Amino acid sequence: MGDDRIKILGLAGEYRSSSKSGMLVNAALEMAEAKGADVVFWDLAEKPLPLVGEEGCWAHPNVKEFQSLLESCDAFFLSSPEYHGTMSGVMKNTMDWMYDKHVGGKVFGLMSTLGGVTNSNTLNHMRIALRWLHAWPVPEQLAIGHVKEAFDEDGSLVDESLQERLSNLVEAVLSASKKMSA
Ligand SMILES: Cc1cc2nc3c(=O)[nH]c(=O)nc-3n(C[C@H](O)[C@H](O)[C@H](O)COP(=O)(O)O)c2cc1C
Repeated sequence: MGDDRIKILGLAGEYRSSSKSGMLVNAALEMAEAKGADVVFWDLAEKPLPLVGEEGCWAHPNVKEFQSLLESCDAFFLSSPEYHGTMSGVMKNTMDWMYDKHVGGKVFGLMSTLGGVTNSNTLNHMRIALRWLHAWPVPEQLAIGHVKEAFDEDGSLVDESLQERLSNLVEAVLSASKKMSA
């Protein structure tokens, strides 16, 4: 790092910042920014990543830009919708463009959104994939069930206890990133 500021990249397993996962990641990024971090959100609707293995994917300009951005960041917030009991294909494909050389030894904060009842399946599955990347997801995590009702019109979490859990997650990522880069 050129200075002491932590640079955090937010990724959603959905397109657009207005998806529920996009809203959750951006709520985390806003909190981190208020605590002095530099933050950036990669919007797949603006810069889609090709499917790994499809024709021309290895030389795709968005992939090169994405991987350079990964390398330049100290920490990551990931939020995936739960699809059929696991992360979305979009999130898995995004993770498949990450390699140890981009994210190994770096800190992750994990979140998931669910249409139904809260569970930790998607969080656990993302955690397993990150182990293969030698990344360090913090123990704090957040799953938001019945997500359609979770946000108010300003994009803030309605439930104060969820808001507090999000704040704890952000704090854990910042604190672990500082320790890792000390
Ligand atoms: C293909 C598909 C599978 C889904 N599977 C689940 C599921 O297993 N459990 C659940 O609670 N919600 C499920 N949902 C609902 C999504 O989790 C919910 O719409 C999503 O979290 C909303 O966030 P988003 O706006 O970021 O997509 C599913 C939705 C789709 C489209």
